[in-house]
Amino acid sequence: MYPYRPTVAGRAVNSNGSTSPEDDSRFIIGGIVYLDHASAAPWHPAALTTYLRVAETLFGDPTRRHVQGRRARDLLESARAAIARAFGGDPDRLVMTSGATEAVHLAVLGTVAGNRTRPARVVSTAIEHSAVLAAADAAGVEHVRVPVDGRGVVRLDALEDELRRGAVLVNCLHASHEVGSIQPLADVAALCRRYDALLHVDAAQTA
Ligand SMILES: Cc1ncc(COP(=O)(O)O)c(C=O)c1O
Repeated sequence: MYPYRPTVAGRAVNSNGSTSPEDDSRFIIGGIVYLDHASAAPWHPAALTTYLRVAETLFGDPTRRHVQGRRARDLLESARAAIARAFGGDPDRLVMTSGATEAVHLAVLGTVAGNRTRPARVVSTAIEHSAVLAAADAAGVEHVRVPVDGRGVVRLDALEDELRRGAVLVNCLHASHEVGSIQPLADVAALCRRYDALLHVDAAQTA
């Protein structure tokens, strides 16, 4: 069923270049080396198999009370509970979106709109995804960017300088989609706590 299983001389090619038929093949697709997994990747075979099975059998509208609707709702809620458990959160507070652009807009615009008594400033690292920067620019408050160092890691001293001036929200992504740097989120979170700012983490590349 998995459509992206390229072969070389009749043998599957997997992501580390070997041709073991057991392995998945995510990098060489139809004879082309595909290296844009940061933007989009072929589905994992297990996810694709599950998706097809669910689409075939549990297609009901989960808001309806008939049997198909209730079955779809049960599955949706068990998926929501499993995801919330993995992140240590409350299922009722988990919002599923169509993708990261929608999610970051909800997070940034919703946080600013819901916290009008806090300082009207948003602080973003200079290497946030354009979706985050656009949302913060559109939030109707001052939006400042803090630089990163030569390794693409946010400068905590610059972040602290901005937090001293007050902020409702800090946008700090987890892994950079452009240079791959991982941000020191524990340190960033500690600074946000110290200066009473909320923290939004775009983990689209690592979740
Ligand atoms: C870090 C980061 N944030 C947000 C997005 C936007 O994601 P989407 O294409 O799901 O809207 C991307 C897309 O690659 C991303 O890498």
